[in-house]
Amino acid sequence: MAENSRIAGFRNMSVNDRRSAVAEATGLDDGAFAQIDATAFGPEQAANLSENVFGVFSLPLGTATNFTINGTDVLVPMATEEASVIAAASNAARMARPQGGFSTSSTQPIMQAQIQLINVADPHAARSRILEHQDEVIDLANAQDPKLVEVGGGVKGLDVRLVEAKSATYVVVHLHVDVRDAMGANAVNTMAEAVSGSLAAIAQGDALLRILTNKADLRLSRARAVFDKEMLGGSEVVDNILHAYELAAADPYRAATHNKGIMNGISAVVLATGNDTRAVEAGAHSHAQADGRYTSLSTFEKDAEGNLVGNLEMPMPVGLVGGATKVHPAARTALRIAEVSTAKDLAEIIVATGLAQNLAALRVLATEGVQRGHMSLHAKNLAVSAGATAEEATAIVERLIAEKSFRFDRVQALLAELRSGARTPDAQGTGAQSSGGQK
Ligand code: MEV
Repeated sequence: MAENSRIAGFRNMSVNDRRSAVAEATGLDDGAFAQIDATAFGPEQAANLSENVFGVFSLPLGTATNFTINGTDVLVPMATEEASVIAAASNAARMARPQGGFSTSSTQPIMQAQIQLINVADPHAARSRILEHQDEVIDLANAQDPKLVEVGGGVKGLDVRLVEAKSATYVVVHLHVDVRDAMGANAVNTMAEAVSGSLAAIAQGDALLRILTNKADLRLSRARAVFDKEMLGGSEVVDNILHAYELAAADPYRAATHNKGIMNGISAVVLATGNDTRAVEAGAHSHAQADGRYTSLSTFEKDAEGNLVGNLEMPMPVGLVGGATKVHPAARTALRIAEVSTAKDLAEIIVATGLAQNLAALRVLATEGVQRGHMSLHAKNLAVSAGATAEEATAIVERLIAEKSFRFDRVQALLAELRSGARTPDAQGTGAQSSGGQK
């Protein structure tokens, strides 16, 4: 784990200095950083992952700072195109530090495969017949992946559901598979296909779909943190954050945006580590609807001292083996930055990041609103598209914010002014983002 995830001034460092700071905190060597350079993953390598490939689409890769998880510091790799996300997660993690940072836990890594049986004349009796034969079905499934069984994984149980659909009652068998450090899709799909013939014979019907469910509600990770009242801005801010949370808990329209804020953090880490963002997103939103009504994935309350306590529990189907996690060079480096050795560790870091992201968004919404940070970013984009260097852009952003004018012609005029040396706008700006801001 990182020696110290609090890296002073990280945000304002050059890219090279940031690499040195990450290397110092994690012990990563130059070779690891070479793996995130464009040359390490060109179209040739990309063509091994997808089809019809003629290029590579790049995204910013950064690291959130300040995270302490279960008493250990960790740098969190994040890939995202959205400004303010990484800064906001880092800022929220800083506010959790005085109370010990994040505490996390997980269920066993159980993924489920579904086998749909159709044309079954007696679904209730078929269910009983399958349960009577479950040991042989489980043995057959486990025979598909002896290595998984050897490391303590494999099928741990079987469930049979009767699903009333429009034209029939389907017998749907669920295999509960402990997939250990894998995301698990391949393992469970192979097992589902292998046992479907036997299940169809037992049910005296036909097998149709044989695929995992992304409603991974037996593979949950949790994160909890106490955010310091004073660092949040005092008790009124805490109360307003609670009002913001309560609206999400009560109103699906707000819950969708609230959960999107959580996913800003979650998807960024999932993507950086080469995992399947769509699987995690499908799991998240189905979980948000678990009680039949779409609601907030997180909860917030006040502790006895008036600090804000956040909790997040959600499915987290991510792995360290298989898929892009092993073959994408940048993902491998990201996993080294996070210094995880089990899928469980990674899942818990991801959920902690989601909670931090959520808190940061609620805080900014309950105080200054998102637009200040957003307009700074907009100003920076305008300056860069007018041809400003990074230093010039910082100075121009300051002026635009002071003047509350975000017109391109004004940007051009300021740039010309700067270059002619006519005046020197104050260049001590903070850059494009407010510390806790979100788009
Ligand atoms: C923007 O990407 C995310 C937020 O809308 C989340 C939220 O509203 O809680 C700021």
